[in-house]
Amino acid sequence: MKGVILAAGKGSRLYPVTRVVAKPLLPLANRMTMAYAFDQLKACGITEIAIVVGENEPEMRATLGDGAASGVQLSFVRQPEPLGLAHAVSFCKDFVDGDSFVLYLGDAIYGQSLAPIVQSFKDEPCANLNLVKEVEDPRRFGVANVVDGRIVKLVEKPQNPESNLAMAGMYVFGPQIWSVFADLKPSARGEYEITDAIQMLIDRGEVVRAGVYEGEWFDTGTLPSFLETSRFLAGSVAKIGEGATVEAEVGEYVVIGDGATVHATKLENCVILPGAHVETSGEICGSLLGGEIRTEGDLVDMIRHGDLTE
Ligand code: G1P
Repeated sequence: MKGVILAAGKGSRLYPVTRVVAKPLLPLANRMTMAYAFDQLKACGITEIAIVVGENEPEMRATLGDGAASGVQLSFVRQPEPLGLAHAVSFCKDFVDGDSFVLYLGDAIYGQSLAPIVQSFKDEPCANLNLVKEVEDPRRFGVANVVDGRIVKLVEKPQNPESNLAMAGMYVFGPQIWSVFADLKPSARGEYEITDAIQMLIDRGEVVRAGVYEGEWFDTGTLPSFLETSRFLAGSVAKIGEGATVEAEVGEYVVIGDGATVHATKLENCVILPGAHVETSGEICGSLLGGEIRTEGDLVDMIRHGDLTE
């Protein structure tokens, strides 16, 4: 079994930091976000991994290399334009080469191992097994109708969801998936949806199963969700990287990267990137900061890299 990690997104909701550091390389508890995806795939016995990249390709290749430092064998697959998850996957056919594979969304972080769910695919192979999780408001996800463990219908971001089972960002596929891409049409939002591709498998009578996940699930896409993920992974006690200098009262949920320098009155619920230099007369709270920042006053609920503040 192989692994495909989707990491081509621009991370625009974390601009301007992601103009300088690709989102999959941002630190969570002082490890890059991708490291958690590698851990999950390795726990499933998967070490041959393709990362689908976009404009971030040079930085991703330079940082991750061949993957040996992370105990995996990496290939990079370029998605020429951001046209959806199914579009991204369609470029991985040669890499997967007829095998089954796990598709993993690069900005997803799970509190529990996905290995039992992948094992259930290995025990009982099918065209697709989807990770699903009960959520309060499923409208911003793909939503699955499940009957006796089988998914009978999937709808992407429905206005009126028929169930509260959200598709939770990890999918196991057999080779059947390759046959549907040729007939797949873009959705209303102009993307080739993986949800629609899987619905085509269902329509063709293939077996699509649900793997219900009950652990924590985060995505790192926005400042609040990035900080929430960081708090979950790092815990309340501050993590101060090697060679970092901190002159401030250090409160809860603070992560300072290696070699960073921070001068402020107080720090709380914030992530400072490795090598950053942040100096302010006030406190830093609810923020993700990098680069050279010299300013006055409080830095609250802010994403900033040096002078970039957009
Ligand atoms: C994508 C999928 C959706 C899934 C979600 C999980 O949505 O299209 O089915 O529930 O990931 O995070 P997107 O985040 O691209 O809008």
